Amino acid sequence: MEIAPSVLAADLADLRTAMQLAGEAGCRMLHFDVMDGHFVPNLTFGPPVVRAARAHSSLEFDVHLMVTDPGHYIEPLSGLEIGLLSFQVESTHFAPRLLNLIRLRGMRPSLVLNPQTPLSSIEDIVHLADNVLLMSVDPGFAGQVFIERSWDRIRRLAELRRRLQENSGHSFSIQIDGGVNADNLERLRDSGVDIAVMGSAFYSASAAQREAMVSAARG
Ligand code: DX5
Ligand code: ZN
Repeated sequence: MEIAPSVLAADLADLRTAMQLAGEAGCRMLHFDVMDGHFVPNLTFGPPVVRAARAHSSLEFDVHLMVTDPGHYIEPLSGLEIGLLSFQVESTHFAPRLLNLIRLRGMRPSLVLNPQTPLSSIEDIVHLADNVLLMSVDPGFAGQVFIERSWDRIRRLAELRRRLQENSGHSFSIQIDGGVNADNLERLRDSGVDIAVMGSAFYSASAAQREAMVSAARG
């Protein structure tokens, strides 16, 4: 399992250092939380900041859209060598179209589910996605507590993945976001999670603790 540090929890006035700390800890991915102050109450940054950041890091960018109109963000984010581009399933009636467009623009399409969104809502479209991100907190803010019910959702999503793979050969990675810390990392890895987003616990740790968490996550 890889840790994707969320720069939302770092010093946003010093993104370069935030990205550098992730690289120094051995991470391969960086998580960017784009919030529009509408889908979620918080407002962070948009494609111009992601574009500016791109020039200063060679890590894979993992962009998480928490916005009302995710379709408006795909073109501005294309061409930035973004790896995963995730949007919230609750924000659109046109998920298949968006997933296909993201792939067409050279990014890996990914679906995000809020804690109350049933897994059944993605059963018929998940074959178009490369990744499914389960929110383990209510989206919008870093520093919240991991919702315990997420363990059961991870288990059921891993089961859905197994069935899909058996029936069609298609698979997807499983990502978890919110309340991840040194105490739940290993259990997440053992539950089949491939990518754990980590905000506060990463940026409040020492350099040695960060490195230790990155290697514990890999197992
Ligand atoms: C929350 C964001 C997360 C957040 C995670 O809406 O999607 O990526 O930064 O922060 P922690 O790890 O502090 O919960
Ligand atoms: Zn996120």
